[in-house]
Amino acid sequence: MRIYPTMKIFAILAVAMFALVQTSMAKEADTIDELVAMFDDSKCAECHEQVYKEWQNSWHSKAIVSSLKGMRNFIAVGLAKEWNTPVTKAEVLKCLDCHAPAVNYASEKLAKELAGLIVTSFDKKDTDEGKKAKAQLARLNVGCYSCHHIKATEVAKGLRGEPKKGVIYTGSDVDAGDAHESIQTVDITRSVFCMQCHGVYKAPDGETIKCNTLSGSYQNTYQNHGGSQTCQECHMKKGHLFPGGHDIETVTEGLGFNVEIAQYQHLPGKIAGVKDKKKWVPSAVVNAFIENKTGHRVPDG
Ligand code: HEC
Ligand code: HEC
Ligand code: HEC
Ligand code: HEC
Ligand code: HEC
Repeated sequence: MRIYPTMKIFAILAVAMFALVQTSMAKEADTIDELVAMFDDSKCAECHEQVYKEWQNSWHSKAIVSSLKGMRNFIAVGLAKEWNTPVTKAEVLKCLDCHAPAVNYASEKLAKELAGLIVTSFDKKDTDEGKKAKAQLARLNVGCYSCHHIKATEVAKGLRGEPKKGVIYTGSDVDAGDAHESIQTVDITRSVFCMQCHGVYKAPDGETIKCNTLSGSYQNTYQNHGGSQTCQECHMKKGHLFPGGHDIETVTEGLGFNVEIAQYQHLPGKIAGVKDKKKWVPSAVVNAFIENKTGHRVPDG
């Protein structure tokens, strides 16, 4: 058979297309193991031990498993019963884009599986099956790559494009040698970085999710009245622990408490039914002032 030049081109094109499909497919994980391996945070502990320990004790490290009830209700009651909407990756991301951003890289099949695990881990929490499901879900959270890779580049996606494979995005200009490539991005040092997750969420299909509204009050109440500190300045004093409303020290720091007391003697009028002579009663006026010293309303939820 003679091969015409055009056929050759078609053959090359076909091979190229196949390669393209392959690489774009490789970007999606089909199992939890694959997804965790894609963004393996455990290896960061080797060199950033202190940061890793702080993060492990933070709420960011448990961002699915501490919110199971709400997510179970979204899937098993909201989608399934109230809105009659099938479980898809797009629906699951309406929670997990913030609670476990790695799921953006899950296949449609895996995203559905995660939804199933969420329901199982809550509905069957006292059984082995439920405990297993929860242990699997605990591997997904707001991890190192969620911030230093996925969300760090998402603040200005048009400008920065997709995050580059394996690259760590950070606020300073550092050289990590062979350990990893790092790219400096000021975005991660700014409040808008945190506000991507700590604010109202607009899903690609236009639906709005109001899981927490803190960023609104940061912008409208705090910044508009001259507040100048960033989220990071207030919340990273203890590094990656990110203390907030679950930490009594932080809560106390956030509340100014001032009491004014004025003492006086009070002479009540005759009280019906009481025969006694009038008596001076020691009294006091107490004015308590509670001041919000945070950068937003409290509590939030
Ligand atoms: C083999 C050691 C090693 C491993 C593993 C490693 N790093 Fe690093 N990392 C470094 C070194 C060295 C630097 C540059 C010096 C410094 O600032 O600590 C650095 C710098 C950084 C910085 C910038 C620090 C700054 O001052 O802004 C971040 C963020 C970071 N690493 C995150 C990670 C994450 C996330 C992981 C896991 C995916 C990781 N690193 C894995 C060695 C390592
Ligand atoms: C825009 C990002 C974002 C989206 C989308 C989102 N959440 Fe959240 N969610 C958060 C943040 C941030 C917090 C922590 C808020 C705080 O502590 O003030 C939170 C807290 C929670 C909590 C309370 C956890 C606790 O420990 O008290 C539950 C439950 C929850 N989310 C469920 C959901 C469900 C269900 C969905 C999907 C319908 C969802 N979230 C979508 C960001 C988001
Ligand atoms: C919730 C988002 C978030 C998560 C999760 C997170 N980081 Fe960071 N990280 C930041 C921000 C913000 C900074 C400060 C950047 C700046 O101001 O330069 C930072 C700074 C750092 C630095 C430099 C400063 C320091 O404290 O040494 C290192 C190293 C680092 N991160 C490593 C990690 C590792 C390793 C993990 C996972 C165990 C991790 N980060 C998880 C947001 C995050
Ligand atoms: C990828 C989304 C995401 C990003 C980015 C993110 N957070 Fe969070 N953050 C969460 C979620 C989800 C929770 C709730 C986790 C839970 O309740 O288990 C949370 C919890 C917290 C808490 C603990 C709240 C409490 O109730 O004690 C603080 C404080 C916090 N984040 C501050 C920050 C700051 C400051 C930044 C920016 C440097 C930031 N977060 C960036 C998703 C995010
Ligand atoms: C001026 C300092 C300051 C700034 C700026 C600030 N916070 Fe806070 N934040 C606090 C303090 C203090 C608390 C603890 C108060 C409480 O929960 O009663 C707190 C609580 C929180 C909580 C827990 C809320 C809850 O209901 O339990 C989250 C989440 C949080 N902050 C995130 C953020 C984010 C995101 C930003 C930036 C958009 C930010 N904070 C800006 C000081 C600050």
